[in-house]
Amino acid sequence: MATATVLWAVIGGSLLGYSYDVNAERVESRNDTFQSSHPEQYDTWKATSDSAHLEDALAEDPNMVILWAGYGFAKDYNKARGHYYALEDVRNTLRTGGPKDENTGPMPMACWSCKSPDVARVIDERGEDGYFEGKWARLGSEISNTIGCADCHDTESEGFAKGKPALKLSRPYADRAMNAINQPFEEQSRFTQQAQVCGQCHVEYYFGGKTKAVVFPWAQGTNVDQMESYYDNLGFKDWTHKLSKTPMLKAQHPEFETWRDGIHGKNDVGCIDCHMPKVQNEQGVVYTDHKIGNPFDQFEYTCAQCHTQDKATLQEIVSTRKAQVLKMKLTAEKHIVAAHFEAAAAWDAGATESEMEPILQDIRHAQWRWDYAIASHGVHMHAPEVALEVLGTAVDRAADARTKLARLLASKGIMDPIVIPDISTKEAAQAALGMDMEAMNAEKEAFLKNVVPVWEEEATKRESSY
Ligand code: HEC
Ligand code: HEC
Ligand code: HEC
Ligand code: HEC
Repeated sequence: MATATVLWAVIGGSLLGYSYDVNAERVESRNDTFQSSHPEQYDTWKATSDSAHLEDALAEDPNMVILWAGYGFAKDYNKARGHYYALEDVRNTLRTGGPKDENTGPMPMACWSCKSPDVARVIDERGEDGYFEGKWARLGSEISNTIGCADCHDTESEGFAKGKPALKLSRPYADRAMNAINQPFEEQSRFTQQAQVCGQCHVEYYFGGKTKAVVFPWAQGTNVDQMESYYDNLGFKDWTHKLSKTPMLKAQHPEFETWRDGIHGKNDVGCIDCHMPKVQNEQGVVYTDHKIGNPFDQFEYTCAQCHTQDKATLQEIVSTRKAQVLKMKLTAEKHIVAAHFEAAAAWDAGATESEMEPILQDIRHAQWRWDYAIASHGVHMHAPEVALEVLGTAVDRAADARTKLARLLASKGIMDPIVIPDISTKEAAQAALGMDMEAMNAEKEAFLKNVVPVWEEEATKRESSY
């Protein structure tokens, strides 16, 4: 307690005397506004731009093209990088297509939801329906700042102006979801609140209702079985698989959920303890490091605060677990990919809807489980035992599907194994699905050349009028 008080005195002191002016009527989404008032936090936040490397996840593992056949993720999927790039990346990905005007394009407005503090601003100004309704391109000119201060902070509050954290859930749908799991934000300890601000985005969600708004499927709980049951009861699907015709679920990135079930989550060690530690700079200022990235880069301020092992030892443990999860992931993929092709062959051989139904249910559950585990980035660190267990159940469901498929195919006179085409590279897998990548790339290029500059111009005009 005493340490905490001293800490806050230092943080507060470094800011004393600074005059500070925010428009109380508008969520301040311009990150640059806080550069001079909160230099340490701003500079470290901006340094998330150091994590610039783009890694093509489909090129690394072309199985995923097949698993997501018929869905946007088969077009393009990169691994996560620094928060600084979130806005740029959502504009650039083939998944958001190449809208020509506000009514075209494949995705809804909800696709901006975890990319920008302007989302908090627009919801504040227009309400949730006023934000969510329509296509992704509708408010392209309104969403112009990448993930930043107003995503996690009440930037209008007096406390924030004075250098206190003033954490806030800026997304009302996240606030409701925390209530649903009996953890209302306002009533939580500081540690839980810290994790909840990350849990606004690093979670599983779907687009529901008339406006295709973001909803967290947590009404029955946050583990893989509870969310699966929630989706099944709702009869929800994200898309229909192009090969097997399965009504599929796409897991997003349930980091918050898997972290809760891991050893650190259970011990109240939160995202911040590892990803945003308190640090001290050369001038002696103690502050929260806002360069969210790999905690091993700040080992002495993160793991070493609680553990006595050296960095190499802990890194070795984590990389061993990563290898174990990867191996199990590939095992699950092998069976689920085969099941999709075998199901396609069964349809071709004249299988009926009622013959296929139990098989498609197994495939749906197998892939949901695979995705829940692997789309949860960092799961090998946060909850390796959860990942391995869930992937085990994915293999089990896929094996069930394949046993049923073998019988069904045999009953249609097909005894030989189903041949899987060349899917050894991303390009080969996309070609096997008949995807016209050239057209998609051209459409995206035209969008980036013609539409985005107009959005940026309008945004600059709007912001200069504040
Ligand atoms: C992803 C969430 C997130 C973003 C984005 C974010 N912060 Fe923070 N901020 C936090 C957390 C978490 C804390 C620590 C809260 C605590 O100690 O309880 C914090 C603490 C602070 C504090 C209190 C002093 C300190 O260093 O602990 C200030 C001031 C602050 N942030 C300013 C900013 C500014 C300015 C930006 C934008 C450039 C920003 N933050 C962006 C999550 C965020
Ligand atoms: C407003 C939504 C949002 C919030 C809040 C948020 N994140 Fe993120 N985070 C993202 C997105 C989107 C990406 C991927 C960005 C990209 O690849 O373009 C990301 C990327 C990351 C990465 C990968 C960084 C890298 O360099 O590879 C980490 C780690 C991370 N977030 C942790 C956190 C933690 C911890 C918090 C809470 C303090 C948090 N995030 C809060 C949306 C959010
Ligand atoms: C006990 C420490 C610890 C806690 C608690 C923790 N993380 Fe992590 N996280 C890590 C480490 C370490 C890695 C990188 C693992 C590696 O090097 O392979 C990581 C990786 C990640 C990644 C993947 C980054 C990438 O580029 O792929 C994301 C996203 C992430 N964490 C978000 C979160 C969120 C959100 C929370 C809280 C809900 C959280 N973490 C809690 C230590 C932690
Ligand atoms: C705020 C304190 C804290 C921080 C920071 C922290 N840990 Fe832990 N860690 C714990 C606690 C508490 C346990 C559970 C200990 C137990 O139950 O025996 C634990 C357990 C572990 C375990 C053993 C449990 C298992 O999964 O087998 C490993 C490995 C581990 N932590 C690695 C890390 C790494 C790597 C980092 C940094 C990225 C880190 N921890 C950061 C507190 C922390």
